[in-house]
Amino acid sequence: MKLLSITNAALALAATTTAAAKASNYTEWMAESWLSRPVSYSRNYANGVLYAGLELAYNKTSNPALLSFVQKQIDAVVNDAGELIDYPGDKVSLDDIRLGVNLLSMWTHTGEEKYKIAADTLRGQIDITPRNAEGGFWHRKPTYPDQMWLDGIYMASNFYAKYTAWFQPENQTAWDDIMLQYDLIEEHCRDNSTGLLYHGYDGSGVAVWADPVTGACPHVWDRALGWYFMSLVDMLDDFPRSHPGWNRNLRRFQSLAVALKKTQDPASGGWWLIMDEPYPSDPQNYIESSGSAMFTYGFLKGMRKGYLKRKDFQATADKGFGCLTEDFISKNANGTINFEGTVEYYISVPLVQNDYKGSGPFMYAAYEVEAY
Ligand SMILES: *[C@@H]1O[C@H](CO)[C@@H](O)[C@H](O)[C@H]1NC(C)=O
Ligand SMILES: *[C@@H]1O[C@H](CO)[C@@H](O)[C@H](O)[C@H]1NC(C)=O
Ligand SMILES: *[C@@H]1O[C@H](CO)[C@@H](O)[C@H](O)[C@H]1NC(C)=O
Ligand SMILES: *[C@@H]1O[C@H](CO)[C@@H](O)[C@H](O)[C@H]1NC(C)=O
Ligand SMILES: *[C@@H]1O[C@H](CO)[C@@H](O)[C@H](O)[C@H]1NC(C)=O
Repeated sequence: MKLLSITNAALALAATTTAAAKASNYTEWMAESWLSRPVSYSRNYANGVLYAGLELAYNKTSNPALLSFVQKQIDAVVNDAGELIDYPGDKVSLDDIRLGVNLLSMWTHTGEEKYKIAADTLRGQIDITPRNAEGGFWHRKPTYPDQMWLDGIYMASNFYAKYTAWFQPENQTAWDDIMLQYDLIEEHCRDNSTGLLYHGYDGSGVAVWADPVTGACPHVWDRALGWYFMSLVDMLDDFPRSHPGWNRNLRRFQSLAVALKKTQDPASGGWWLIMDEPYPSDPQNYIESSGSAMFTYGFLKGMRKGYLKRKDFQATADKGFGCLTEDFISKNANGTINFEGTVEYYISVPLVQNDYKGSGPFMYAAYEVEAY
């Protein structure tokens, strides 16, 4: 892989990143590049992840074309009565809930009630999601019974927390339930020797990959851990500080940050697709862009909010952002840019250009660098 040969150049670059990045415009450059590119009409979580990036660029620049684009995309999946198309479909998945965050944002920006109605539907889905014996949400019914995945924490718990903060701040049952999801995933998936978390666990222990004691799967996957790192730093905005879980999750975020700093590839500044030993440096493994963007965002936001000390993490974040802009941004002849190097699903090849799950978090990271 090209990336693995980049060593001195990346290190030299990292030193100059901070000043250059502050003067740059990647948030809107990437967002505006999407305006002339086809984007699927779907309520898939990946669409929501992309739309939030465009919305951040709108928040930064007030360019109305960005908000109209997102609204047109969302209007293709929500009708005027606030009904979601093809809902719920043939399965109920935590992934479907992620769009709720975008719906609440669109409701805020436009005041149109249909977005709130659609968000209410997704909040209702939480109440009918099946749970494993300890109360953890199934990732998807019927495909993944009793299984909790790190991805699902980001897709459902952040919306659950935001919705509760906005509409039911006194609902103690909901706050406890949100925290339970984090407590369970931590108890079963955190590898206490490295501080990293495995991708998920099976509460019934029947999956072929399940660890006999914890039920955890055997690998640490960068994007799954990226979702979780983002979930922790974002939920601290919405979750009540008076609840004892807030400090618990702050400490979890901080300890994961320490573990991630240790696993950053020193040559490129990015993170490996498969992060558990002995796979980093394996010829079939590679530095993956979506997870690297998510971690970089988490470090940057964590420092801005005062959860992480700049003296401990600024260099890590700068190297991460340098890796994203130098190794994963490509330019088209017409001046638009692409985000490269995102694995589509697990270890599938080839790597995808302009994957929503990579491009979105790249904009979140760029916004942290450029807007503050
Ligand atoms: C961002 O800056 C580059 C030059 O660094 C320029 O070519 C590009 O047009 C700018 N894009 C936007 C959307 O401002
Ligand atoms: C710019 O080029 C890209 C890549 O070929 C293309 O997808 C996009 O539609 C073009 N945009 C404009 C405004 O021409
Ligand atoms: C954009 O700004 C609005 C209004 O301040 C805010 O509600 C929204 O969360 C912001 N968008 C994102 C993606 O953070
Ligand atoms: C509070 O949250 C719980 C758990 O999500 C939910 O079942 C209940 O309906 C909520 N209560 C109110 C008053 O909305
Ligand atoms: C890690 O430690 C915590 C408490 O210190 C424990 O609850 C958890 O089960 C441990 N995780 C694993 C996978 O052993």
